[in-house]
Amino acid sequence: MLQFPQGFLWGSATSCYQIEGAWNEDGKGLSIWDAFAHTPGRTFQGHHGDVACDHFHRYKEDVVLMAKMGLKAYRFSISWPRIQPDGHGPVNEKGIAFYSRLIDELLDHGIQPWITLYHWDMPLALQMQHDGWLNPDITDFFATYASVCFERFGDRVKNWITLNEPWVVAMLGYGQGVFAPGRKSIREPYLAAHHLILAHAKAVRLRLYREKYQAAQGGQIGITNNCDWREPLTDSLEDKAAAQRALEFYLGWFADPVFLGDYPQVMKDRVGGRLPEFTEDEKEWVKGSSDFFGLNHYNTSYASHGDTADGSEVYANGGIFEDQHVKLSVDPAWPLTTMNWAIVPWGCRKLLHWIRDRYQDPKIYITENGCSLDDKVSDGKVDDPVRISFLEGYLGECHKAIEEGVDLKGYFVWSFMDNFEWAQGYSKRFGIHYIDYETLERIPKSSARWFARTIENNGF
Ligand code: GAL
Repeated sequence: MLQFPQGFLWGSATSCYQIEGAWNEDGKGLSIWDAFAHTPGRTFQGHHGDVACDHFHRYKEDVVLMAKMGLKAYRFSISWPRIQPDGHGPVNEKGIAFYSRLIDELLDHGIQPWITLYHWDMPLALQMQHDGWLNPDITDFFATYASVCFERFGDRVKNWITLNEPWVVAMLGYGQGVFAPGRKSIREPYLAAHHLILAHAKAVRLRLYREKYQAAQGGQIGITNNCDWREPLTDSLEDKAAAQRALEFYLGWFADPVFLGDYPQVMKDRVGGRLPEFTEDEKEWVKGSSDFFGLNHYNTSYASHGDTADGSEVYANGGIFEDQHVKLSVDPAWPLTTMNWAIVPWGCRKLLHWIRDRYQDPKIYITENGCSLDDKVSDGKVDDPVRISFLEGYLGECHKAIEEGVDLKGYFVWSFMDNFEWAQGYSKRFGIHYIDYETLERIPKSSARWFARTIENNGF
């Protein structure tokens, strides 16, 4: 079995709307996902997160399962409307109390809490009254909410992620309209993205984490972006340029401002007036606003020069074809997950190298990677050899990348358990624990045992 470097962090990840339930308990306000999921036609068979995995009530038994798996870290998100029901103004003490209990429980079991402040569940009031991410004011609301969390939890929490996958918020929420708040536009994604980046940087920089809390509390803070790998379809210069362009539109869009100080030139050239500009002042405080490079990685495609015509590829390409002029395709030999994502472990290694080269060798954490499969319960157990080989494949490529000099510090498997998969509802196929949604019983999969053994063999 592979040995990872001393101190390599082994974790698992979830998000609040996908697992907590208790959507209207203990003073929680509504989020855009509560509203979206309750809007007919928006999610698979009208599924919603009202109860989800009932983690809000069963967090203690979930933490016990995490401890049994030997997890060293657990990444979860805080529900903004549980902390501030209207997104600004008074703090809901019962919401604070819930996350405090969860944090204490994790620490009692030797598990590091990794908190994501925003995993897509904007307080509904901010959407209705302020237009959500389209309004520059949102950046201050977010920074204030973040400071409440640093203040109340930062004595015990040393690892913070401001935003999860702003690309998804911008593209699927404001471009394709398939995620909350369900808007369709070719202009709004760029505006929403701009405010997401500024909100992240404000929470870190302007009077906040870095200046007020970091020294005293001794933690680290960063942003998590998602990116698929884009492999040039042929060796032609055109296809190589298309793959590079696709990566800059995908990851560079968010990571370039944070690590290099501005949007990629190729985006400025192609998007023109629809791409907002950072002032010189903003560039200054956005640049360097992440202590590490958080990466969620799931998928790989070939990229070639041209237009994507096939609707099935719209999702992968982010919808802004005209701006990118990239055609995506897959090798029919690649196995697919049940979400039609290609299982291509080497894509992960190539992406890690791309990040190292472009962003001057940052400290990287894979904050999500995993696969959806059609898991079946038999005799109260789930045997999932394909997930095990998926994990072997991806972790093997991560290991190679580390040997080749990539500064990869940790790996969080998505997900700790089956959960509400956004517009796709309850897939019953994610994660390393199965959830029976009738009884809410937790049933480990064989991959959970495999993962536990891997962690044990890397015990430090
Ligand atoms: C990510 C997202 C997670 C989960 C995962 C698997 O994009 O952050 O919440 O949905 O995909 O689909």
